[in-house]
Amino acid sequence: MDRIINADIMPEDDKIEQGLRPSLLSEYIGQEKAKNNLKVFIEAAKKRKESLDHVLLYGPPGLGKTTLAAIVANEMGVNLKITSGPAIEKPGELAAILNNLSPNDVLFIDEIHRLNKQVEEVLYPAMEDFAIDIVIGKGAGARSIRLELPKFTLIGATTRAGMLTAPLRDRFGVVNRLEFYNVTELMQIIIRSAGVLGVSIDDEGALEIAKRSRGTPRLANRFLKRVRDFAEVEHSGKINYEVAKLALDRLDVDSLGLDNTDRNILETMIYKFNGGPVGLDTLAAAIGEDSGTLEDVYEPYLIKNGFINRTPRGRIVTEHCYKHFGLENLINHD
Ligand code: ADE
Repeated sequence: MDRIINADIMPEDDKIEQGLRPSLLSEYIGQEKAKNNLKVFIEAAKKRKESLDHVLLYGPPGLGKTTLAAIVANEMGVNLKITSGPAIEKPGELAAILNNLSPNDVLFIDEIHRLNKQVEEVLYPAMEDFAIDIVIGKGAGARSIRLELPKFTLIGATTRAGMLTAPLRDRFGVVNRLEFYNVTELMQIIIRSAGVLGVSIDDEGALEIAKRSRGTPRLANRFLKRVRDFAEVEHSGKINYEVAKLALDRLDVDSLGLDNTDRNILETMIYKFNGGPVGLDTLAAAIGEDSGTLEDVYEPYLIKNGFINRTPRGRIVTEHCYKHFGLENLINHD
């Protein structure tokens, strides 16, 4: 597969996970809604021998946006080119990428909300008319010529659709929100990945890893690999409940999948801010984390699983959170 990959834009997790990724929609577990819709759109585009309409995938990191883009390209029988918003600095760089596409190719732009304005403006006519306008010369003699592009499919990925400008968002014909995976789906993914890795795992072992994977296949696969290391070095090589539990405890991932950063966030809220309300920026500064990362990476899981609530006055921790830490005595009942 032809890829424009710059080591800076390919997260380490993605590299680790790549070998475990399914390449067909039929192998892809979970995200039923997005998967079933894409299946229809792919089939329709193939029947008409056209490129698939542009697709926007949004949701927290690690839920399979890149994997889905690769599957779409594979199912369409076209090349996949991968780049990311921050990797494209100048309009000319995007023009070169677009001009090198073959008909119906898939161009995947990760973190598409981080494209700069000038680059984004090249995308508008490219997405809508499959053409780009190039300005030649300077000052009074400058003229613009239109360069026709092959038809292509843009797949944009972002952690938050709300961060896209309206003109960009409006140019996607298909918009899919990816959801956290449930424990059953994660178990299936772990068992499938264990098969690919050739490691023996029983259902209880897979369940224990699934429960601690924060609804995220990227974490499930990463934990599976680390648990396998413990299984091979300190145990019989097989993964069961005991081995999974011991290994994940050693990795400081608790029974509900909270890691050191999650605990730091929640404990800071409890002890420094009396459980809240506390504003996002104040909290981010207190834990030494970027507020965007806090909001996009850590908070969605904590909110989805009822550890934090958002209120108009800021974030607050919930009763469930106090109970998880054994701090029932701090719950304020007034
Ligand atoms: N590996 C990572 N994500 C997956 C998914 N959704 N289905 C199957 N295997 C995966």
